[in-house]
Amino acid sequence: MEFYKSKIKGTGMYVPEKVLTNADLEKMVDTNDEWIYTRTGIRERHICSTEGGEWPTDMALKASVQALEAANLEPNDIDMILFASVTPDAKLPNSACILQVKLGITNNCAALDIAAACSGFVYGVNLANSMIQTGAAKNVLVVGSEMLSREVNWEDRSICILFGDGCGVAVVGRNEDSDQSEILSSTLGADGTGAEFFDQPVGGAVEPITPEHIEKRTHMMQMKGGEMFKMATRTLANNAKKVIKEAELTLKDVDWLVPHQANVRIIETTGKLLGIDSEKVIINIDKYGNTSAATVPIAFHEAIHDGRIKRGDLVLFDAFGAGLTSGATLLRY
Ligand SMILES: CC(C)(COP(=O)(O)OP(=O)(O)OC[C@H]1O[C@@H](n2cnc3c(N)ncnc32)[C@H](O)[C@@H]1OP(=O)(O)O)[C@@H](O)C(=O)NCCC(=O)NCCS
Repeated sequence: MEFYKSKIKGTGMYVPEKVLTNADLEKMVDTNDEWIYTRTGIRERHICSTEGGEWPTDMALKASVQALEAANLEPNDIDMILFASVTPDAKLPNSACILQVKLGITNNCAALDIAAACSGFVYGVNLANSMIQTGAAKNVLVVGSEMLSREVNWEDRSICILFGDGCGVAVVGRNEDSDQSEILSSTLGADGTGAEFFDQPVGGAVEPITPEHIEKRTHMMQMKGGEMFKMATRTLANNAKKVIKEAELTLKDVDWLVPHQANVRIIETTGKLLGIDSEKVIINIDKYGNTSAATVPIAFHEAIHDGRIKRGDLVLFDAFGAGLTSGATLLRY
């Protein structure tokens, strides 16, 4: 069987217009800018309009148009959409199908949603890579798009300060340019025994939302932050080491670490565990908070756009999320 190389051909991002600062949150719950910034590194986050135009697939449309342009591709060149989100537009149809229509794709491309929480985009990139390597797909649109503001309990200060809305997209495609760009190694994993640390059990088949849930706000996301913190740093470091070893490279070779943006202290601790210089770590959590599946593609896109990440650089994606899911990708951009 022929084996193809894949690479990231283009990226895009979109964040909603409305900005919610820590000062704004001070008026909503008993918190303050100093507590939020020192504990999390977050200054502000973007929040989707509920009037329309900024639903997860709308944000994905805007970011996908940019990514396709950067990749020099037309919508009908896409033969698969992988849409990572825990806040899809609707239960049915999946968001990938909605995006297919919004993009004007008429080639009946495959369209699949990925529910892997904050690791969803990295799951998507790694699955796209496997599909491309085997020849099952040629150009895959990988989306991370979230409207977490819908699922956050705005009366719970331990959780509402952490999250934001936004979208990042990458076109992963077969490398036919004979350049050095390539996805080199990847890992995906999960530890379902940690599910209780970050979950939203109400609203599924087992326990539908009732008026009582709405009154008590028990249908929202709930998290044990301290437990997540410990699991995150350990898992992020282990996965990074795994992909480096598989590619027969060293952590010193890494030009850029693009980690999931959940908490700046998690990112700094992971960087230290790996011995990666802080200047090589992409951090933008101050502007966006935790946008779940969208953090890695937004951070990656921004760093390409402002000239930090260049073609040929060795880039490491490293993500962790509810599930508990995790994944890492090592690539030559
Ligand atoms: C959530 C998180 C910021 C909390 O930070 P922490 O240092 O663990 O803080 P604690 O939860 O121990 O709370 C310390 C105190 O601050 C209080 N507090 C909690 N939220 C607060 C807020 N927004 N403002 C002010 N005080 C707050 C707590 O009530 C507690 O008070 P007490 O000591 O009187 O009981 C941190 O645990 C975290 O970021 N965890 C990882 C989250 C994560 O990664 N989630 C997603 C992974 S994909």
